[in-house]
Amino acid sequence: MQVVELNHVVGLHCLTQLRDKNTSITGFRRNTYVLGSLLLGEATRKLEWEKHDIETPLAKCEGIVVKAPVFIPILRAGLSLLDIALKFFPDAKIGMVGAQRDEKTAESSTYYQKLPEIKGQHVFILEPMLATGGTLVSSIQEILPHQPKSLAIISIVAAQQGIEHLSSFEDITLYTGAIDASLNQQKYIVPGLGDFGDRWLGTQQ
Ligand code: URA
Repeated sequence: MQVVELNHVVGLHCLTQLRDKNTSITGFRRNTYVLGSLLLGEATRKLEWEKHDIETPLAKCEGIVVKAPVFIPILRAGLSLLDIALKFFPDAKIGMVGAQRDEKTAESSTYYQKLPEIKGQHVFILEPMLATGGTLVSSIQEILPHQPKSLAIISIVAAQQGIEHLSSFEDITLYTGAIDASLNQQKYIVPGLGDFGDRWLGTQQ
């Protein structure tokens, strides 16, 4: 797997706000939006395009069109990045993978999946927190047999252990805002930012 760690000063500013336990839900959502947009911009930098000539009010002008990729948010937290993806590509096809983690064993398993046509498409998995990588391994194993043209993951924070877990997938690229050193016993990323889904959706107790 190729790993691209976004090294953007605005992205690092947003990440600091996301990590801060005192950041409100409004701040959490706003900083997710900005950092997610920077990550998506980087990840889509080299998508294929075709020439598309137009006329401005003043003159003929050469332009381009980009074919929308496929996005697959991992429920729940991946929904936070879907809004951004649809701002970039309003006509993109969307797949869904539902994953949940067992509170006792911290093992994750998938309970739902619905994919659009994947063959020959550029596909982006949206998963803000790459912790153990367990959910991503099963999602990738579902997606790869459908022969995407390329497959990439967008994450806000990735743990070193999760990256190592995915390292055998040679043709995949991970775009992440940060690589954190460790996981705690409950498999949360440390220092991380806590439970992303709970903080973004407002479901923390
Ligand atoms: N999922 C989260 O939301 N946070 C973590 O630290 C790990 C997985």
